[in-house]
Amino acid sequence: MHLLIPAAGMGRRMGSDRNKLLLQLSNRPLLAWTLQAANAAEQISWIGIIGQPTDWPDFKAILAAEPPSKPVEFIRGGDTRQESVYNGLQALPDGAERVLIHDGARALATPHLFDRCAESLRHCRGIVAAVPVKDTIKIVDPTDELIRETPDRRNLWAAQTPQGFEVAALKNCHDRGRREGWQVTDDAALFEKNGLPVKIVPGEETNLKITTPVDLAIAELILQQRLGS
Ligand code: CTP
Ligand code: MG
Repeated sequence: MHLLIPAAGMGRRMGSDRNKLLLQLSNRPLLAWTLQAANAAEQISWIGIIGQPTDWPDFKAILAAEPPSKPVEFIRGGDTRQESVYNGLQALPDGAERVLIHDGARALATPHLFDRCAESLRHCRGIVAAVPVKDTIKIVDPTDELIRETPDRRNLWAAQTPQGFEVAALKNCHDRGRREGWQVTDDAALFEKNGLPVKIVPGEETNLKITTPVDLAIAELILQQRLGS
C-alpha cells in the first residue's frame, strides 16, 4: 500500500522559525520518528513525503542517517495541507488503487496502527483512525461566545491519521473541493461531503498531533517511557 506523508507545514503554532518536523524529539528530528514507524509497517510498500523544496536537503539528511527499506519520493507541498495532499495524489505511481495519508506531525503512531489501517482499507472505501473524545465538547456561537449545544459525547470521536481512501474517489473529491472552494482540515471531510462512506479504525491515544510546545514535551515523555520499557 502507498503512503503519503504531508510534511510541508510551517509549524506556526509551535512558534518555531522553521518547519516543526525538523525540531528535535529525543535526539532525532520529529520527522525521523514518523518515517521510522512508516518504514517498519509491513503493509506500506512506498512512501511519498510532501514537503517544501527548502526543506528537502534536511529531509534527505534524515533519510541518509537511517535509509528506509522501501522506495521514498519527494513531492512539492502547497500552501495548505489540502493542497499538499492534492499534489501528493497527483504524484502517486500509476496503479495505486488505495492510499494511506499520515501527518508527518503524528510522530508517535506505531507500525501496528499503519498496518491495522491498511488492513481495514482493503474492505472499506475510506477509513480514519480515531479515538473517543475525553472532553465534553461545546458548540459555541462565535458572535456572542454563548454555548449553543452540547453534543452527546458517546457519538464524538477525535479524528487522527492515518486516513485511507480509494485513490480515484479521493481525487474526485479533491477536484470537486477545489472547484467549490471547500476548505477542510482532513481528507475524510472531503469524502464525507461527497456522500462517501468513511469508517472508524480504533486509533492510539498516544498518536497525538504535535502542534504546540506542550505537545512536544508530552511526546518526549511518551517516547522516554516507550524506550525505557
Ligand atoms: N502540512 C502540509 N502542507 C501545508 C500545511 C501543513 O503538508 N501547507 C502538514 C504539516 O507538515 C503536518 C500536517 O500537515 O505534518 C498537519 O498540519 P499541522 O499540524 O497544522 O502543521 P503545520 O501546518 O506545520 O502547523 P501550524 O498549523 O501550526 O502552522
Ligand atoms: Mg497547519
